[in-house]
Amino acid sequence: MGGLVTVELEAEEADWEFAPGRSVPGFAYNGEVPGPTIEAQVGDTIEARLKNSLPQATTIHWHGVRVPAEMDGTEAVQPAVGPGETFEYRFVVPDAATFWYHSHTNETEQLERGLYGALIVRDPREPTLDADRTLLLDDLKLGPDGDLAPFGDEHEHHAGREGDVRLLNGRQEPDLEMPAGTTERWRIIDTANTRFARLSIGGRPFTIIGTDGGLLTKPVRATEVLITPGERFDLAVGPFEEGERIDIEALPYDRGKGETSRERFATLNVGAAAASRAHIPQTLRQIDPLVAESAEPNRTISLKALMHEGLHQRADPVRVGDLQIWDLVNETGQDHPFHIHGFFFQVVQEESKPPPFIAWKDTVNVPRKSQTRIAWLPDDRPGEWMYHCHILEHHAMGMMAHFKVVR
Ligand code: C2O
Ligand code: CU
Repeated sequence: MGGLVTVELEAEEADWEFAPGRSVPGFAYNGEVPGPTIEAQVGDTIEARLKNSLPQATTIHWHGVRVPAEMDGTEAVQPAVGPGETFEYRFVVPDAATFWYHSHTNETEQLERGLYGALIVRDPREPTLDADRTLLLDDLKLGPDGDLAPFGDEHEHHAGREGDVRLLNGRQEPDLEMPAGTTERWRIIDTANTRFARLSIGGRPFTIIGTDGGLLTKPVRATEVLITPGERFDLAVGPFEEGERIDIEALPYDRGKGETSRERFATLNVGAAAASRAHIPQTLRQIDPLVAESAEPNRTISLKALMHEGLHQRADPVRVGDLQIWDLVNETGQDHPFHIHGFFFQVVQEESKPPPFIAWKDTVNVPRKSQTRIAWLPDDRPGEWMYHCHILEHHAMGMMAHFKVVR
């Protein structure tokens, strides 16, 4: 039997001090950016009471969690919670993984101002490393006066909103400490409106152990991983040597808006050694492929059409138990991270090749001028759902569609 995790989340205006002595007028859960980390065990029930003390309406979306449709936190399933009003979300967390929660109303502004937090669901059977930390990547776009740049100019609509202030856990390029000789689980979440990160930890090898929907089948060694808005990667990081200073940074990447330069998010300082009991087994779990690689798609989604058709598009319903194989075709000149609410999918092909590893995902980057094939199985949670580009400015411009899951 699962336990009960209760949390009170008050959305309110708060002074957000993102660097010593520097702040912007933020929107925050319980006065903090990021909002409080919600921690649960798989099978627990989460009861989250939202009190809206903002001067505008809001809702909370539980990104990635397989909630019932009514708890999805979009305005398609509930009226937005007005100023002074409250709403109670209640759902079971059936999967162990790194999730996050965020506003799903006036998102471009509400997320930029800080309305997001992590939701960590653990399974006691998962391997434990020497520490478990959550790192939320974000950025802030400031104007010349040092205040938040105004929202929604024409350029942002097309390119998304990116700022020069890079944040880790709500702070500008902070210093992190880690004992030498240890290996930690880092849960990385890209909470930015638009910013991608081709993440590197000083070029050192690390191990990818999980992504959106939890553990991979086996650990994957890498020296970089591309994370795009909405996505998560769980990494095993370390061991390092005492006295090392390592940049946690994004390497150059071109998402269709020109190649970025190397950009730091934080610095890791390695302190005195500590004992380690970290062990990463060679088999993390079993994931059965939903379909054969050669399976034919039963739906094609043109991201170009999705981008240009505007608000309130409605896609065909899907039936509970009917396997979905969707081709996501990106004919546009920029990458789009595609997110489906409430369900995990498997990537069957990306850029017309099988992906490097099998995984459960809820958000996948579809690179420009390429095609990604995904497969998913709607389980018995009928109702109103949606998919959209997780570049929030694209979503706001209408790069989204509603669809129903029907019995
Ligand atoms: Cu994080 Cu509609 O999504
Ligand atoms: Cu997009």
